[in-house]
Amino acid sequence: MRLDKFLADMQIGSRKEVKKYIKDRRVTVNGQVITSDKIQVADHDVVTFDHQPVQYQKYFYYLLNKPQGVVSATTDPRDKTVLDLLKDKDQRDDLFPVGRLDKNTEGLLLISNDGVLAHQLLSPKKHVEKEYYAEVAGILTVEDVAAFAKGIIIDGNEQTLPAEMTILAVDPKQECSQMRLILHEGKFHQVKRMVKAVGKEVTYLKRVRMGDLSLDEELALGDYRPLTEAELALLKNAVK
Ligand code: URA
Repeated sequence: MRLDKFLADMQIGSRKEVKKYIKDRRVTVNGQVITSDKIQVADHDVVTFDHQPVQYQKYFYYLLNKPQGVVSATTDPRDKTVLDLLKDKDQRDDLFPVGRLDKNTEGLLLISNDGVLAHQLLSPKKHVEKEYYAEVAGILTVEDVAAFAKGIIIDGNEQTLPAEMTILAVDPKQECSQMRLILHEGKFHQVKRMVKAVGKEVTYLKRVRMGDLSLDEELALGDYRPLTEAELALLKNAVK
């Protein structure tokens, strides 16, 4: 890879800016000051900028605790997007949310620039589990659990795969319930539509797990952190 691309990819500056830094003798490769931006660098080369080593990283993976009110998109004419939650130092043009959570859904959302892994995680063929916690207006019943376990028809014509629902709590006075739901696919508004199909309504929704990757409860709403190596391995394992 060309030295100027390497430095620009690692957010040292724009392509134009890094060319200037190279001319200004602020960049070294293997201990030598380099003044040509055309030079090629490889994995084993040691690059520094202003005496600080610059390590090349191709893919970025962030675990975000999505708050309500932001949309799972890269740009939006009206609303704040999940990418707007990233600090300036982490902003890159190639990042995107891996899948979608509704504007009023909270919880685990992966942000990455790894298109291959994203495609695999979202592929219906891979059946990567997604687990949700939901609060529901209405009383969930064992019949609802059985209906979800068989797979139900939503909006009159769409058949879902079997899904595992656990009733966590029921409040007959307030006529509301809490549940956990494990899905093996990702249809549009799936949780809300499944709950509607059994005559109830989701009032709060949070995704807590994707494959073996769980939401980090230490992350406040709107906060994010890079995935650990172990977490990335778990995700990759889920799509093998
Ligand atoms: N199902 C929904 O209805 N909404 C989401 O955001 C995710 C799953």
